[in-house]
Amino acid sequence: MMMNRRKFLTSSSSLALSTYLMSYSGSSLASLIENTGLKDVFKDKFSFGTALSTATLSGLGNSSDQLKLVAKEFSSITPENDFKWANLRPKPNSWGWDLADKFVEFGQENNMQMVGHALVWHSQIPDNVFFDKKNKMLPRSHLLATMEEHINTVVGRYRGKIHVWDVVNEAFKGGRWRKSHWYNGIGEDYFEHAFRFAQNADPSAQLMYNDYSMDNSKKQQSVIAAINQCKRKGVKIDGVGMQSHLHLDGPSIKQIEQAILNYANAGLRVHITELEMDVLPKIQDYASADIGNKYAYREELDPYKSGLPLAMEQKLAQRYEEVFKLYIKHSDKIDRVTLWGTSDDESWKNDFPIKGRTNYPLLFDRNQQPKLAYFALKKL
Ligand code: G3I
Repeated sequence: MMMNRRKFLTSSSSLALSTYLMSYSGSSLASLIENTGLKDVFKDKFSFGTALSTATLSGLGNSSDQLKLVAKEFSSITPENDFKWANLRPKPNSWGWDLADKFVEFGQENNMQMVGHALVWHSQIPDNVFFDKKNKMLPRSHLLATMEEHINTVVGRYRGKIHVWDVVNEAFKGGRWRKSHWYNGIGEDYFEHAFRFAQNADPSAQLMYNDYSMDNSKKQQSVIAAINQCKRKGVKIDGVGMQSHLHLDGPSIKQIEQAILNYANAGLRVHITELEMDVLPKIQDYASADIGNKYAYREELDPYKSGLPLAMEQKLAQRYEEVFKLYIKHSDKIDRVTLWGTSDDESWKNDFPIKGRTNYPLLFDRNQQPKLAYFALKKL
């Protein structure tokens, strides 16, 4: 079974390559493929990034090949998990910097833009940050002091090295404030304070608000209103991260474009921060990345276990091309486009919102080979 799957994936990659070769008329093609990456295609438009997984930073499995591929193809990196509160600081006074430091070393060695993800989020954070031993919520002043100390410590450690911070992540659910422990314990001004603390800790870093479903009009209105309110008080917020967990079937290019325009018109820089393209049957609103949502496995919802049919590969390539053409059209507003992972095997979309499916959302296959979608972008 495994053999068949590998064969299928490899032959689909060579097909991707030959299709690309046929459609390209340049003379120095061989050297172009060998020496340049997608980062070179987009270098005058925006930085082009990927997320580094815990496994890759830990040196597990094929991580050294993965890191070589990342260095060739990408100009920006985001840690998928290793700057999150629970990973960095599983207990109040016990910090684990190893993987975060490795991330920064790799970025420096390869002269990359580095993104810190994420300082203030409702998820991946121990309950004892918010509650005492009797399970009573700690006072507002205590929570603000903890937030400030955490931001000072993390941002301070990498001051001048990490260029962009996702300061607050996923503060809104639809058009309303998410009733997170941060919100319940401090009030809606937790948002403003997080950005103030980050600005004090590194005044030169680019400070972002990051969320999924950012093309949803209710969310846009709430996000823009909250940011405007902060900016009126002199708080620095440079832009928004549109996570962009997309599906083959939506959202439409028009909808994404309108969102980019709305954020830009509000004076915000736009970063595309967690892009991938789900190809599996939808079970919920495809753009949602609310990790609380889980569904039971069913065979019919996992149709491509032994490989993605060519027609689907082509559809995926076409969708990536359309989306990137839009990003290029608005590259005066967009500073960065980051994929949420490099090869299909490491995507969180294999386990969300159903655990154990075989998904194909990224630009490289399970053997780290470029897919049709990769070559479609290389031609742009
Ligand atoms: O490292 C442990 C491992 O020791 C354990 O054996 C295993 C058992 O399940 O879990 C491993 O941790 C998992 C971790 O990913 C590393 O793979 C966690 O359970 C799992 O919850 C975690 O999921 C991450 C998720 O955020 C929650 O933090 C995904 O990898 C990551 O892609 C995802 O990223 C988020 C962004 O930060 C914010 N936007 C949405 C996006 C998707 O949810």
